[in-house]
Amino acid sequence: MDLKQQLQYCSASGTALLAVNFYNFETLKGLLLAAKANNCSLILQLSEGTLQYLGIHSAVNMARAALRQFGVRGWIHLDHGNNISTIRECLDAGFDSVMIDASEASFSENVKTTSAVVKLAEAYNVNVEAELGYIAKLGQQQQGAFTSPADAHRFVSETGVNALAVAIGTAHGFYKDPPNLQIALLKEIHAATPAALVLHGSSGVPDDQLKAAVKNGIAKVNLATETKNIFMKTLQQQLRQTEDIDLRRVFPKAIDAVTSLISQKLQVI
Ligand code: 13P
Ligand code: ZN
Ligand code: NA
Repeated sequence: MDLKQQLQYCSASGTALLAVNFYNFETLKGLLLAAKANNCSLILQLSEGTLQYLGIHSAVNMARAALRQFGVRGWIHLDHGNNISTIRECLDAGFDSVMIDASEASFSENVKTTSAVVKLAEAYNVNVEAELGYIAKLGQQQQGAFTSPADAHRFVSETGVNALAVAIGTAHGFYKDPPNLQIALLKEIHAATPAALVLHGSSGVPDDQLKAAVKNGIAKVNLATETKNIFMKTLQQQLRQTEDIDLRRVFPKAIDAVTSLISQKLQVI
């Protein structure tokens, strides 16, 4: 099954793939050990910032090699792509999936940009994700309305996009007040469109709400901040306790912490 088919299967069966961002070999290893231990597939996500940090070819080749090495089935995805030229580079570098995020533009501009990406991606047979309705970026205030079912229907039929990120009450990063996911709205969106629905901003969402979202139409659960947080907090603690300069002895606790976090999330969704 390719990723498009897998997401359709998830969408129809009330299950989801976990889509996790990684930043370096150590976070990647932590994620893959969790997938292996739980016998789960994973979507490995790269943001534009991480692509700049690692370099696109190092990033994709490292991820591909690590999937093989750890014996995990997985796909490599561009998270929140914001222009066609980056997306073209990712497709040429062998990504399995790309996201175009034109959610801050008007509906018609979003349709236009997303349609252009869908057209470009056709020759590569990859999954294409877009965003409709605004999901607050890190450090930004949530603004604007939730995704409307009618708009979602129109957006997906006009663009032909496979996967759709929806605004149903989540935001990127941790929350000041616990989120309140709009599960009834999610059900309506799920009924209104055949696209696989994506939950962004899953860090900080309580387990019961994550479960309810997956059961009611979310096929891809995006997680980033919690991974970064547990990795760095564990590493900082480790560095306060040791003068050891052998990084191969210093990193493993932080890698283990990522593995525990991701195992727990895989068991929830
Ligand atoms: P969090 O950082 O809240 O987990 O959101 C991740 C995300 O949506 C990546 O696209
Ligand atoms: Zn996101
Ligand atoms: Na979040």
